[in-house]
Amino acid sequence: IKLGVIFGGRSGEHEISLMSATSVIKAIDKEKFQLVLIGITKEGNWLLYDGPVEKIEDGSWQQEAEAALANDPDKYGITVLGAGGKSLKSIIDFALPVLHGPFGEDGTIQGLFEMADIPYGGCGVLGSAAAMDKALAKEIFAKRNLPVCRHLMLQKEEIEENLQGVIQRTEKFLPYPIFVKPSNMGSSVGISKVHNQEELISALQLAAAYDRRLVLEEGLDCRELETGVLGNYNPEVAAVGEILPSAEFYDYKAKYFDGGQSKMCIPADIPDEIAQEIRVIAAEAYCLLDCSGFARVDFFLEKGTNKVYLNEINTIPGFTKYSMFPLLWAEAGFAYPNLIEKIIDLGLE
Ligand code: DAL
Ligand code: MG
Repeated sequence: IKLGVIFGGRSGEHEISLMSATSVIKAIDKEKFQLVLIGITKEGNWLLYDGPVEKIEDGSWQQEAEAALANDPDKYGITVLGAGGKSLKSIIDFALPVLHGPFGEDGTIQGLFEMADIPYGGCGVLGSAAAMDKALAKEIFAKRNLPVCRHLMLQKEEIEENLQGVIQRTEKFLPYPIFVKPSNMGSSVGISKVHNQEELISALQLAAAYDRRLVLEEGLDCRELETGVLGNYNPEVAAVGEILPSAEFYDYKAKYFDGGQSKMCIPADIPDEIAQEIRVIAAEAYCLLDCSGFARVDFFLEKGTNKVYLNEINTIPGFTKYSMFPLLWAEAGFAYPNLIEKIIDLGLE
């Protein structure tokens, strides 16, 4: 089968995708799959790439792919939808989007695969879109009585029109520290933890630069726990792992640029009943949002009370060999290449 691995993308997590995709591409069994690499630039151009995988992570694949296209437009030109050029459907039998954040993890590209009638790995349109919007997902979880922390949904316009009112409402409802998040982003891009009004104002402005919709959450004194879910109907759940961040919270820098100071502990050192509670909630949340294929479900465990809070679902979690999701499945006996094949099988079901 012609397996299209799609990487890069228009989101703020473009570079993270390059890392995830490099690992995935290296691990795929080239005897079984005919690899077709498709990179999406930050501007949103789709480029066929047949150069060395080593050039993906540092971004130099792009010049090479652009040069190839200029040289031989017949061979390298693709149209995503519509007439003229080689259609996506004619060059791949299956799409594996290894993209994080908006335009990759949010249902938009999944909708395109649906339109083009190409099977793909991971969640469908609804699951992807619902999980990507942190504010909406929290509202849905709360309706089903899944434990979520105190939170507030805000529109960018409210902040622009009545900042004082927004501050008042926030401070009445949430004690500091507060997390301010754009509703649709990943890798903690645009997220701040604020301790006072002055920080709140700049955090609101920062988050509003990324999204129309914001979610504000109580900043719990907590441990960060994550688990992996795999499957379509009746999914399996992996062990629970813990993130030990190098910063005050697991922000973008702590995630990717702290030289490995943030650590993961798999399985997490928590009582069995709590791990079990987390695994049950993870499966319920996954099914509730209509997820399929795979996803990583993130939790908070409040220190002192040991109360579990469901934080969010990531439908295309970080996917390097050293990322939490693959490591959780490695713990369950699924080697990295087998995990990728399992995701492809689930997408073909
Ligand atoms: N958004 C990043 C890739 C993650 O959740 O792992
Ligand atoms: Mg996330």
